[in-house]
Formats: sequence, C-alpha cells, structure tokens
Amino acid sequence: MAGPLLEVQNLEKQFAVGGTWLARHRRIIRAVDGVSFALEPGETLGLVGESGCGKSTTGRLILRLIEPSGGHIRFEGRDLVTLSARELWAARQRMQIVFQDPFGSLNPRMRVGRIIAEPLQIYAQADAAGRRRRTAELLEVVGLNPGFAERYPHELSGGQRQRIGIAAALALQPSLIVADEPVSALDVSIQAQVLNLLMDLRRRFGLTYLFISHDLHVVLHMSDRVAVMYLGEIVEIGSRDTIHREAKHPYTQVLLSAVPVADPAARRERIAPPPTRPHRVRPTERRGGRRSSPDTPPTELGRPSVGEVAAPPPDTPHRVRPTERRGGRRSSPDTPPPS
Ligand SMILES: Nc1ncnc2c1ncn2[C@@H]1O[C@H](COP(=O)(O)OP(=O)(O)OP(=O)(O)O)[C@@H](O)[C@H]1O
Ligand SMILES: [Mg+2]
Repeated sequence: MAGPLLEVQNLEKQFAVGGTWLARHRRIIRAVDGVSFALEPGETLGLVGESGCGKSTTGRLILRLIEPSGGHIRFEGRDLVTLSARELWAARQRMQIVFQDPFGSLNPRMRVGRIIAEPLQIYAQADAAGRRRRTAELLEVVGLNPGFAERYPHELSGGQRQRIGIAAALALQPSLIVADEPVSALDVSIQAQVLNLLMDLRRRFGLTYLFISHDLHVVLHMSDRVAVMYLGEIVEIGSRDTIHREAKHPYTQVLLSAVPVADPAARRERIAPPPTRPHRVRPTERRGGRRSSPDTPPTELGRPSVGEVAAPPPDTPHRVRPTERRGGRRSSPDTPPPS
C-alpha cells in the first residue's frame, strides 16, 4: 500500500450537553475541532495535551467507536466515514485500541484466555484448538506464561492486566494501534516495562501507533513525530527532535518545561501554566470563521502544517478542564452488524 496508513482530515466532534428539557440551555462542546494529520506505516505519532483537550475523542473517532461530526478518516486507502456497518466491522480487524485502565477494559467475568481469544472467535479466524494455540502464543509475545490463560483479571497486577489488553489488541494482527494513555494508570516502575514492550512489538510486527498521553516526556520517548493538542485543535506537529528543540507554540513550551532533564546544565526554566479555570462549555457560535467563547477574544489559532505552529494566542487564558474519565470495554469488536 503506497501512501499513509492513516490520514485524518478536518476531523470534528461536537457533543451537545445540558438542556435535557430546554433546547436553549443546550451547549455544544467542540471536543475535536478540525484535526488533520497523517500516519505513515510503521510510524508512531504521539498525541499530547492537557486533560480534556480532545485526545481520547480523536482516538475513538479514528476507530469510529463514536461518529464524527465532520471530516474524513482514510485508513489503508479507504474512507472509514463512508463505509457501511459491515465494511467498517471488517476494517476494525486492522485497527485496535489499548485503553488506559486495563481493569475497566477487561471483562471481569472472563478468564484471560477467553478475553484474548474472543476477537478470533468473533471474526471466525480459528477453531477452538487454533484459538488456544494463538492465545498461548500471544501471552508469550507480551511476556506472560501460558498459565495466565486460566486466570481472571482481578488475579493480575496492573502491569499484567495491561499486557493482556495488549495481547487481545494484537490477536487479529492489526496494522494500527491507538494506545490511549496505556501506562498512565500504572506504577512508575511498571510504566517503563510496558512502554518497552510496546516498542518491541512495534518493531516485531511492524505496527503503527497513535500514542496518546498527557505526558510529553513519555510521548517524546515513544514517538517519531509529536502532535500537540490544545482545546480540540492540533497547534503544533513535527518530528520528535523539532518539538523537543525548536517548539514554537507557547503551550508546547509549557509542556516542555515540565519534562525532567537529567543534565542540570540543560534544564529549562519551568514555565508555570496560567491559572486553571473550571470546566467550561464553549458556545457554538463562531466569529470570523473561528471558534469563539464569551470571554476570550477571537484568536488566529490556525492549523499548522508539519513543523510549523499556528500564531500563538497571546492573551488566551490557559483553560484546563477536569478529567472526565469515561470507561469503555476493549474495542474488541462487537457482534457483527446485520448484513
Ligand atoms: N460523550 C461525551 N459527551 C459530552 N462531552 C464529552 C463526551 N466525551 C468527551 N466529552 C468532552 O470532550 C472534551 C474532550 O474530552 P477527551 O476525553 O477527548 O479529552 P482527553 O484529552 O482525552 O482528556 P484526558 O487527558 O483527561 O483523558 C472534554 O471537554 C470532555 O468533557
Ligand atoms: Mg483521554
């Protein structure tokens, strides 16, 4: 396949919140507001930004776990937005997600062996003996012995559970993995092991990752390129080195200033993030073709191309929205849609 594995153009997602009874109280959150990027086969693109900036929504949109409000998602040369339910179901074999919370994403009533084999069964890729063989193989691939197949998720440590989530994501031999904060829920000592596992798997199976994290340190470690997201938009995108050394957007610089550096001489001055504000819903109106909100002036937050940044919004206060974690079982494909 020539060209990018994944190409996202002008992706948008708006959520209507509030106003259950009165439509005039309804507000629209522009969770993802015109996001574009491409991912080459075998590449890792890190998507970094503060809590609530739209990272997970972007990941879920790409897998079409939620419906986009606008834009295009081309995966392996096909526009996922226009696929029928059945075609999408088939395409999902090739794209999987690893969630942040391995406990919440694994079915507590299933043994590990069944969790890993379930996608194979749903997509009818192997008979019972074949599934058992493949499960043992996948357990070995993620560094666990085959005996783990008999255990339940609550009998495992956080790191082991995340390994199971990764094994299940690999079962159908995907080309793309969206890893949504895959180590954020783990102890620091375990994080490095799981990150190293993800890097090994990428090399071994030629995987392509969209690696989502709020931690730029981890993203720089994992990624070939980095996209910085802020309030639903990508404000800066470039190679890891460009972002590390020549970041231009003030928000990227705030993130960089918090990255720990071993050499004291090379340490950056820590830039304090502007005061945090409570969660706010942005209204739907746009002034001058751009998003606007009541107490911020319209700014020219244009979409950057690779290695460029949009003009910074000098007096836009930094808005931090509190985490609203939404659970979700593994994306392991649901039952096939009716033909
Ligand atoms: N189903 C939903 N209904 C309403 N609002 C939503 C929904 N899903 C996400 N949002 C809102 O969209 C915005 C982006 O959320 P998202 O989960 O994508 O952020 P995030 O960058 O992944 O944050 P975190 O780092 O905390 O995981 C937030 O304001 C969130 O409250
Ligand atoms: Mg998230």
